[in-house]
Amino acid sequence: MCGIVGYIGKKNTKEILLEGLKELEYRGYDSAGIAVLQHDNFESYKAVGKLVNLEEKTKDFITQDFAVGIGHTRWATHGKPTELNAHPHLGESSYVVHNGIIENYAKLKKELMSEGVTFLSQTDTEVIVHLFEKNLKSASSALEAFTKTISQLHGAYAILLVTKSEDESIFFAKHGSPMLVGIDAQNDKYFASSDTPLIGHCTDVNYFEDGDYGYVSPNAIVIFDKDGNKKNPRFTKLTQNKLSAQKNGFRFFMEKEIYEQSDVITDTLLGRLSDEGIVFDELDASLFDGINEIKLCACGTSYHSALSATYLFERYAKIKTSVEVASEFRYRSPIMSKDTLFVVISQSGETADTLETLKMAKAAGLKTLVICNVDNSSMVRLADACILTRAGVEKGVASTKAFATQVMVFWMLSMYVAKLKNSLDAKEIAKQIALMRQVPLSTKVSDVTHEHIKRLSKRYLHGHGFFFIGRDIFYPLALEGALKLKEISYLHAEGYPSGEMKHGPIALADPELFTIALLPQHLLYEKAKSNVEELSARDSTICAISALEFDKADDFIPISSCQDYMLEFFEMMVVLQLLSLEISVRLGNDVDMPRNLAKSVTVE
Ligand code: G6P
Repeated sequence: MCGIVGYIGKKNTKEILLEGLKELEYRGYDSAGIAVLQHDNFESYKAVGKLVNLEEKTKDFITQDFAVGIGHTRWATHGKPTELNAHPHLGESSYVVHNGIIENYAKLKKELMSEGVTFLSQTDTEVIVHLFEKNLKSASSALEAFTKTISQLHGAYAILLVTKSEDESIFFAKHGSPMLVGIDAQNDKYFASSDTPLIGHCTDVNYFEDGDYGYVSPNAIVIFDKDGNKKNPRFTKLTQNKLSAQKNGFRFFMEKEIYEQSDVITDTLLGRLSDEGIVFDELDASLFDGINEIKLCACGTSYHSALSATYLFERYAKIKTSVEVASEFRYRSPIMSKDTLFVVISQSGETADTLETLKMAKAAGLKTLVICNVDNSSMVRLADACILTRAGVEKGVASTKAFATQVMVFWMLSMYVAKLKNSLDAKEIAKQIALMRQVPLSTKVSDVTHEHIKRLSKRYLHGHGFFFIGRDIFYPLALEGALKLKEISYLHAEGYPSGEMKHGPIALADPELFTIALLPQHLLYEKAKSNVEELSARDSTICAISALEFDKADDFIPISSCQDYMLEFFEMMVVLQLLSLEISVRLGNDVDMPRNLAKSVTVE
């Protein structure tokens, strides 16, 4: 998502910041900015859109002597991608850049405004700089004011702050968002939110840990841990290979994105869970007034997440819900009634078929909502309301973390509607929210499981086909598992409802037919198990994924024992993604760019 850079030294600060931001472009952004303090004078430039716009604006700005600078590429979360919302954000004599989300920003902003502070942006970030300047008035040093400021922030952040009151330092804090500092041969200091901007400048870097904060000046790197104890930097060697740095050491972007899911789901949840219910600041509760039905439309992986949503909406929100493949919906003269909320789901927000259904719904006068990963995309601009999934840029063509965050948003939305419509009591909603908080843990990749799947994958490289089977919400997950395998292994795979196998597909069963069986402990376990037994009796090769051991399986991938089927859903999702990945790797395929596929399909 967003990117941060910083620099203290005598080299060309502007160029170093701009070059650093360029290295972070791959993460996706919609605006960018820098602020440089030299000769006791601040200069700041911001621009919407690509970095060339910022380069154009800064072309007459020269930095030659000692300077302190910070820069940022922004991926909008709070507030539109405008110049005012772009970072760095200015107080009276300080600038701040920030990645992450300040969950208690609304409260802090209200307090500061009641004390006369004027806010220029809609961002959560701007509170940091005003809070710092307020604290500075009563503090004996900038460090004291900064330390107090950090202690008042809730949420996730990586922060750099520069201030005239300490004009040779950059203050930093890290909690939940990545940040590192490096030194070059001349002892100049560089900050960044990921390795790439530092490659070519620094060979040794210190990765900050959660809770670390402090400052860096020409002669010192001062770090405190979360308890305020001073600690020494721990330098490690920095790789000099940029592509591998972007992949964070993973073999493929898809693999990196599978591993990122736990973190991006944390982002999806940030500021949206309270003990009483789900908070979607971006939605007006009147969106659901007069709505008796929900219609979902999407393509590919997004269609599978939408199909999952039908189970959640009907089960929890008790609202009639249906889903359709967008390319079908377009041409079948659908009946669209005004008591239907029309919801489109898209990672990119640009898929032509889905976009067209949104236009049809708007033309028919329906209320519309988009669940999307890319702010300011065509669908986001067109729909009446939008919920961003906050998965960050997904590079692998085979979607993983986008799917995970979409399902997460749907689960949250089902609770949001359940509360509006009083279809669940407060106790049940609180229970569901407590479960949601566990999803980041359920999606953490276990080394043992990954190693097990790596070894197992060699037994699944041939055969005449795969059936991925599951019941209830595990059916869309089975469809998604089959799609992942198809996309990157080019093996034939189908997703089926477990109970439907006996109505035809079971005729294919033999040892060369591989069945990937999803057996959640907490949802229709016995029913699903009987269906797998039917296949096993006909000698299909079975790979079961479950928390409960299953003796009829040829292979077994255990998941952890947990309290609810939704946690099983997310853990199994990771298993299916890893299985496809490892089969594809063994087959020697291009995992990130599979043949014939495109990441965003903007044609019919
Ligand atoms: C393409 C991609 C799929 C994706 C689908 C929908 O077909 O290859 O991975 O699921 O488009 O994309 P969207 O951006 O609308 O979610």
